[in-house]
Amino acid sequence: LNNFDVELGDGESKKGTRVKVYGRIQHIRAQKHTTFITIKDGYGILQCIFPTGPLTQNYEALLFAQETALVVYGEMRAVPPGHKVPGNRELHVDYFEVLGRAPCDLDAITNKVSMQQDVWDAQMLDNRHLVLRGENASAVMKLREAVELAFIDTYREMEFRKVSPPAMVQTQVEGGATLFKYDYYGEEAYLTQSSQLYLETVIQSLGNVYCIEKSFRAEKSLTRRHLSEYTHVEAELDFIDFNDLLDHIEELISRVVDKVLADDTARGYIEKLNPGFKKPTRPFLRMRYEEAIEWLNKQDPPILNEEGKPHQFGDDIAEAAERKMTDIINRPILLTHFPVEIKAFYMKKDPKDPRVTESVDVLMPGVGEIVGGSMRMDDYDELIEAYKKNGIPHEPYYWYTDQRKYGSSPHGGYGLGLERFLAWLANQHTVRTTCLYPRFMGRCKP
Ligand code: 4AD
Ligand code: MG
Repeated sequence: LNNFDVELGDGESKKGTRVKVYGRIQHIRAQKHTTFITIKDGYGILQCIFPTGPLTQNYEALLFAQETALVVYGEMRAVPPGHKVPGNRELHVDYFEVLGRAPCDLDAITNKVSMQQDVWDAQMLDNRHLVLRGENASAVMKLREAVELAFIDTYREMEFRKVSPPAMVQTQVEGGATLFKYDYYGEEAYLTQSSQLYLETVIQSLGNVYCIEKSFRAEKSLTRRHLSEYTHVEAELDFIDFNDLLDHIEELISRVVDKVLADDTARGYIEKLNPGFKKPTRPFLRMRYEEAIEWLNKQDPPILNEEGKPHQFGDDIAEAAERKMTDIINRPILLTHFPVEIKAFYMKKDPKDPRVTESVDVLMPGVGEIVGGSMRMDDYDELIEAYKKNGIPHEPYYWYTDQRKYGSSPHGGYGLGLERFLAWLANQHTVRTTCLYPRFMGRCKP
């Protein structure tokens, strides 16, 4: 409960009612006769008016640093008309006690003046526990909660069932290169890269399912959008075709954005963090991989591949090229039909063009890929062949392969990186500011 939410009634009727509230100092402005101190708790802010003089004299320099925790007593009054004060109420303080002092102004820690960018970045990360107290960082975290709840609400409305697959596994999903290995009672095991394979094993009993779990990737490069531990929103849909999958992903993203915008508090965070935000118009642009290759090559100047050459069928569209493309097109793109060679072993081939898969990446301006999904190979023999082709021993996957023996069905799903979704929605330069304590190569603290 917000301890600042003291009922004011009609303003007059509660006059003389003394209240007691707890908070931490956010901001101080001293004037001749009064000192304005804004205090905050995790829910809101409250302007407190201290008489300058006996109450604050001498205490000020020593005690009233940002983040000092206080309990204050006084009379809560409606603000006079014409004054802009959050909540339209202010506390006229007649007594206070300091509960916990803070040694210095937080600005001293987060102050970038005359500091090299990398030194500042490291300082911000080392002090993430304090940075989180700042207005922007806490707004991102509050928005993150609203977004997560919007996903849960939307899936409920769509009648998807929430499950919790294991994080400790013995199979890879997205390639051996990014596996975190560890010793599991003497056996080799991994931190999961994706819950997809497990979701695929429960659609038969539970229907359409989703999970919001951690995924782990030993990414060996430092980029704006790669974490070692991230929150993965994944879903699996039974008895669908590829178009159903694309429609569903577009519907999900649109409904989640609508929900967040419909909530005044959450919309406030977006307005604060990303004032220019506009809800994407539907339908999203749908583009085949092959068309994207042509599009990249015909830009002036052409957007080149990682070797500095024009893109050819079969090339990965690297992060830089993808970002340029999304920034120029400047709207969500459902990029589809990637070549078999550059995609994961489990992806179903396009029956009309076996060179490509029924796969999709959703690309957002400013971030690039936020979703990866596909139809799944549902034929037993084809899957066995795919393990071989990809050099994956099939024994550890017996439980996954079995789905193709016991009533296989056309099905598909996707994974959405929550931090990337937030980087897009909250206009964050990097995913590192969209999670509490980011993990990436070289950083496992605080
Ligand atoms: O494209 P990815 O690797 O796809 C899968 O893992 C599928 N098995 C998901 C599925 O079909 N159920 O990852 C999906 C999404 C990416 O689009 C990206 O948003 C996010 O997960 N992601 C990362 N986010 C932060 N840091 C990383 N290292 C990420 N790797 C993937
Ligand atoms: Mg991907």
